[in-house]
Amino acid sequence: MNVINRVLVTGIPLVPKPIVGFFSRRYIAGKALEDAVRVVREINRDGMMATLDVLGEETSSREEARAAAETYKRVLAVIQSEKLDANVSVKLTQMALKLDPRFCREVFREVVREAHQRGIFVRIDMEDSSCTDETLAIYEELRREFDNVGIVLQAYLRRTVFDADSLIQNGRTNFRLCKGIYVEPRLIAYGDKDLINRNFTLVLERMLHDGAYVGIATHDERLVWEGMRLVRELNLPKERYEFQMLLGVDTELRKIILAAGHRLRIYVPFGEKWYRYSMRRLRENPQIGRYVIQNLFHRA
Ligand code: FDA
Repeated sequence: MNVINRVLVTGIPLVPKPIVGFFSRRYIAGKALEDAVRVVREINRDGMMATLDVLGEETSSREEARAAAETYKRVLAVIQSEKLDANVSVKLTQMALKLDPRFCREVFREVVREAHQRGIFVRIDMEDSSCTDETLAIYEELRREFDNVGIVLQAYLRRTVFDADSLIQNGRTNFRLCKGIYVEPRLIAYGDKDLINRNFTLVLERMLHDGAYVGIATHDERLVWEGMRLVRELNLPKERYEFQMLLGVDTELRKIILAAGHRLRIYVPFGEKWYRYSMRRLRENPQIGRYVIQNLFHRA
């Protein structure tokens, strides 16, 4: 990101909430579950799978965490009753990870159990580095009990290659690999874009080579190319991997991946708590940051 874009992106938190809401509409299915169902139906009709995310993170009470778990159970019921080709993605801080990891494990276990009964897969999103150890521990514990749960690893973290190795050694692993979105200190995370891409490719190769299932989550065409290259070289069947993209990002790349005959899953967030997710998406997209702030000046 160049200096001007960096300044613009740093200015995004000053943007009034309704304007953030306007620009983030493309990244979010809507506030209600019905909105998400409509978007997933369109995605399925276009030959893609979906993963549903109920927006929200860092709950401040056990009641909020239980309410989030209940919402996820409603989502699971609707996926089954509407016969959607979809699974769910969950942030553990929404289920009180930071408040009480033991309680979080109990509440989240109920979600995974319910999903298991309905034959639906649950992906644990990975949050900032203060959550990594607990998130991996909860994943490993649940994975021993259930086969319908998977984890996310972030290529920008220096530890990721070791985490991937030890999870693979423990067997039956289902990963999503992404670059990572949170701001992390240099001591634990690569900052250089090329290094992050090289680490992404290194980790992806190990995962695919060693028999893990991988969701290759990126809009970076160079990494999509690396993914396609590895799949071809290792002669992998379609059941061993999928590409993943976020709702609202690069619809042309979607077509390219589908036209090449690969499976693609779209991450579909919905719900009332849209603000923090939207801010992260806008920060990733300097063009929109520029546009938002230019508009603000015009209005003034
Ligand atoms: P990069 O950031 O280099 O983007 C490549 C190109 O994509 C850009 O040039 C731009 O054209 C386009 N692009 C990217 N973001 C855009 C946006 N918001 N608007 C418009 N264009 C955009 N992270 C995490 O820490 N934990 C997690 O659990 C997840 N989960 C997750 C699931 C899925 C399905 C995806 C695709 C991504 C995540 N991420 C995530 C986010 C991920 O870590 C990363 O921040 C983003 O995917 C952006 O990285 P890219 O690999 O797309 O490359």
